[in-house]
Amino acid sequence: MDHYGVFGNPIGHSKSPLIHRLFAEQTGEQLRYEALAAPLDDFAGFARAFFRQGHGANVTVPFKEEAYRLADTLSERARRAGAVNTLKKTADGGLLGDNTDGAGLVRDLNSQGFSLRGKRILILGAGGAVRGILEPFLAEQPAQLLIANRTPAKAALLADAFADLGPVSACGFDWQGEPLDLIINGTSASLAGDVPPIGATLIRSGHTLCYDMMYGAMPTTFNRWAAEQGALTRDGLGMLVEQAAEAFFVWRGVRPETAPVMAELRRQLS
Ligand code: ATR
Repeated sequence: MDHYGVFGNPIGHSKSPLIHRLFAEQTGEQLRYEALAAPLDDFAGFARAFFRQGHGANVTVPFKEEAYRLADTLSERARRAGAVNTLKKTADGGLLGDNTDGAGLVRDLNSQGFSLRGKRILILGAGGAVRGILEPFLAEQPAQLLIANRTPAKAALLADAFADLGPVSACGFDWQGEPLDLIINGTSASLAGDVPPIGATLIRSGHTLCYDMMYGAMPTTFNRWAAEQGALTRDGLGMLVEQAAEAFFVWRGVRPETAPVMAELRRQLS
């Protein structure tokens, strides 16, 4: 049976084995998928040993940059992200590195009836999670994409690195302007119970969609604040399932249905 896994450290709480098991059941694909704790000091050795038998792997914290360096070839979206979350053994025995995070987020938004084309968007954060979504976002041709970060220099660097792909610029959390169509929280501030200090006037009640890339049993701190301002909200569970579906497609050429898997995960969280 074809062998897949997710490499991370720690990895015990990963939802990926459950998601891919449900995808395999639903599509009838014959595969085995397991969570694998890679050693912090020898990711490359661990991954190479796995791929003597293995067919593909997801990669999560803290190994996405190491997987990027390990890959023999890279998709354009992975090259731009500077990070790899999906590895696939190619016919010649090499490793293809891909990044399905941004495509997963775009798909989740599209499935909610939200198209990015022509929209004004603010992204909060400038770490690896945000870097991973910028190329797929700009490919959808938004009207304006602003990046704000606690450390402003990192937002400026990211905006410069992607400026050739579309209308992206950096701004501060104190940016003032017309309300936005979409605000993405790509910071880990919700983990600390913090909300990036942006102005409530950036939200138009009943219109602005606030999307936290984090998720949990309860609404995230950011989404609770956003809902209080009248925003529509969505958390990152949909992105989690969609990035997995995109990886499944990269490996198997089959696109699973995501809605029943999201419903099952949501049920387990509650
Ligand atoms: P990831 O790979 O999840 O993006 P990361 O690269 O460590 O993780 O980035 C974390 C992001 O969350 C950064 O943008 C960070 O801001 P800084 O660049 O200023 O560190 C942001 N962040 C973390 N905690 C935050 C908080 N309490 N308030 C606002 N931003 C926060």
